[in-house]
Amino acid sequence: MDHSESSEKFPSSAAMIRPGETWCDIHGTPINAHGGGVLFHEGIYWWFGEHKIAGEEGNRAHVGVHVYASENLTDWRDEGIALAVDDSPGSEIPSGCVLERPKVIYNPRTGKFVMWFHLEPKGAGYEGARSAVAVADEPAGPYHFLHSLRPNAGIWPENIPDQQRCLLTGEEQEGLAALGLGGAPFPWYPKEICYRRDFEGGQMARDMTIFLDDDGLAYQLYASENNGTLHISLLDETFTHPTGRYIRVFPGRFHEAPAVMKWAGRYWLFSSDCTGWSPNTARLSSAPSIWGPWEEHGNPCLGPGAQIVNCFEAQPTFILPIHGRKDAFIFMADRWRPRNPIDGRHIWLPIEFRHGVPTISWHDSWDLSCWVEE
Ligand code: GAL
Repeated sequence: MDHSESSEKFPSSAAMIRPGETWCDIHGTPINAHGGGVLFHEGIYWWFGEHKIAGEEGNRAHVGVHVYASENLTDWRDEGIALAVDDSPGSEIPSGCVLERPKVIYNPRTGKFVMWFHLEPKGAGYEGARSAVAVADEPAGPYHFLHSLRPNAGIWPENIPDQQRCLLTGEEQEGLAALGLGGAPFPWYPKEICYRRDFEGGQMARDMTIFLDDDGLAYQLYASENNGTLHISLLDETFTHPTGRYIRVFPGRFHEAPAVMKWAGRYWLFSSDCTGWSPNTARLSSAPSIWGPWEEHGNPCLGPGAQIVNCFEAQPTFILPIHGRKDAFIFMADRWRPRNPIDGRHIWLPIEFRHGVPTISWHDSWDLSCWVEE
């Protein structure tokens, strides 16, 4: 949609998307797929997300990754649990671990569906900062856990100067310990330290997404370096490991919740600030190549201050390109409810292009007829 000059209303229809309202599957049960992403495969949309349970314990994984299927993006069939938590000995995904932001892509070379997610081993808070991979032969699964990792161990990011390619000195280690870094933004955050600390063990990876480019290459974007710096990392041809080619983006800017789309020859990154479950102001950045140079454009949300200061009370999770419609993308976000996560709400809004830039405005209800069929 190009809204540079007009602001037409969406026509009404029986099947509307109502952001923030309870969204039920075709059997009337609320859709339980949070922090999710959507795979389009052979005419069907597959919506994967975190299955949440009631109460604060629901902030950890007790069931797994839930998947739903739809042809029209409004009526969703429950296809069950795609990846189940596993309490068998040695499992890395027992009930009670943190399993967040699952994203699935299809690999035509291997014929496998590949799921990536943020994994925190059980009982260790968010200190693990790992990524994990599971694969399946069918879109709905079952997915089998393959491995977890900290990306790019033993490899320097591509875009750092030679003099930064060195491990921390004893003095730097002591200085770092004294800073008390966690995952939140601090004005004293050191921009050139954390990736050097993690060189040998692998880079921290918390909020993440997977972006499949139109040339068949796939990338993982993850909040690294105590969340202070985003990394963009090329996956190998099986999509199950990093290749070791990666860059650091926006050091010290604390971008979380990355979600990427490609439009008009540019890569557009939607992300959030870093305030845990509390929503904050969204961010839009873009680059002519996935390898940069990346520039920030500010807040992509338009509307009254109370709505856009916190991204319509939500945090981005995925940008869904609509098959067969021109310039059609859906912004997907989560309105978290950390005290009762099962009641988290899905915020889906159409991306509206204004003056050559993707933007997001609130609509109480809308449908796909806002985009012309190709
Ligand atoms: C958010 C993040 C969520 C979850 C949460 C935990 O910032 O986007 O996926 O990790 O923090 O506090």
